[in-house]
Amino acid sequence: MLSENDGEGPLLVVRNLRKWFPIRGGVFSTHIGDVRAVDGVNFDIQRGETVGLVGESGCGKTTVGRLLLRLIDPTSGHTYYRPSAAVTHRLDELYDILGRGTDGGAEGAKTALAPEQTQALAEIRKIADQYSIYRMKGRRLAELRAKLQIVFQDPFSSLSPRMLVRDIITEPLEIHHMGTRRERYERAAELIQAVGLNPDHLWRFPHEFSGGQRQRIGIARALALRPDFIVLDEPTSALDVSVQAQILNILRRLQKEQDLSYLFISHHLSVIRAMSQRVVVMYLGQVVERAPTEELFARPLHPYTQALLAAIPIPDPDVHRERIILSGDVPSPASPPSGCRFHTRCPAVMPVCSKVEPPLIPIRPGHWVACHLYPGPQGVGAGGAAPWTPGGAPEESPALASAPLESGDKLGSPARDSLSPVAAALP
Ligand SMILES: Nc1ncnc2c1ncn2[C@@H]1O[C@H](COP(=O)(O)OP(=O)(O)O)[C@@H](O)[C@H]1O
Ligand code: SF4
Ligand SMILES: [Mg+2]
Repeated sequence: MLSENDGEGPLLVVRNLRKWFPIRGGVFSTHIGDVRAVDGVNFDIQRGETVGLVGESGCGKTTVGRLLLRLIDPTSGHTYYRPSAAVTHRLDELYDILGRGTDGGAEGAKTALAPEQTQALAEIRKIADQYSIYRMKGRRLAELRAKLQIVFQDPFSSLSPRMLVRDIITEPLEIHHMGTRRERYERAAELIQAVGLNPDHLWRFPHEFSGGQRQRIGIARALALRPDFIVLDEPTSALDVSVQAQILNILRRLQKEQDLSYLFISHHLSVIRAMSQRVVVMYLGQVVERAPTEELFARPLHPYTQALLAAIPIPDPDVHRERIILSGDVPSPASPPSGCRFHTRCPAVMPVCSKVEPPLIPIRPGHWVACHLYPGPQGVGAGGAAPWTPGGAPEESPALASAPLESGDKLGSPARDSLSPVAAALP
């Protein structure tokens, strides 16, 4: 087994994560289907970085956030907490082995596996026992819960109206039996100042504050246990534009001071751009593209990302950008379209798109996309079709991208993100 001290790895490694909510119907409340809210999601969060998670309403962003905090358990898949660099590398190798073959097979797949896949699965289970947040119990789980926190979207409903601000902030410390009462109150005074309010505010109730001030209180509470990761679920979308910037600045300052990692969830790409080092784009429960922020904005590859970007208003009247308006509604995650889930709305749709699910593959350093417009490892789909280039699209063929790769990027390797839904129904 690899030692825990063989190099600093990511904070969180998310692999093959699925959450299907069962749909029940009829007199006997039988299981008649599933809402595939999160359906095979893979990405990493490095220590001290912000990953932006973007996509239309209902695409599974909040569910990913709740899974990463273990507020809910997944249908399958894992979130590994602080695996070393060597363990992370090994996990990539193992998931690559599992991804080979016909059924793709996530952990727990029942269909026939090749011997090397069975071995890989056994090794993944061992690593999961040590690092997966869904396997942690007792004291270890309690410690983990302190390290993973959330700031909710709505500062009006997320703070208990009957509690003093002091008690709202110290409650997590009390739950975790941390400090004496006096120490907890001192910590509350420290925290309230860290978010730009003053100690007098500790003696008031939430209704005495504005939305922005309440969100500051929510942030102070999230910081009480000295976490290393915070899910920010649309933290400013309920606030006035002028207040939004203040909250974002506070979050940025606290991140630097306390070496925090954030998952920043938003459906606003411009806010995501301002806050994140890397961006993950979701559509109907799946990752369709992920890339470093500047790369994503300079060279969006997926037609869905391009459409989202085109929808951002440009203040300069001299700048013309071809507008791509997304037609139709988001299909239901209870019965997602076959093949590429975006094919019912994609302006570049091809015959292959409704038949074959495009795997998520690396195209440029750190830049992954799931779309048949880009040549896949096995020449899946349109492969070498001329790249589709609406406004803001790639100016060079992705096939020609030859920049050096980051560790973990293996151009043309089998995509571990493209997995059979068979595996999803398993624990
Ligand atoms: N507890 C639940 N039970 C059933 N369906 C759910 C539950 N939570 C979320 N969903 C469904 O899962 C999908 C994704 O929801 P959510 O993660 O909230 O998306 P987003 O945050 O991107 O708007 C939606 O179709 C939503 O209705
Ligand atoms: S795979 Fe096809 S339908 Fe899906 S985004 Fe690419 S071109 Fe559009
Ligand atoms: Mg949400």
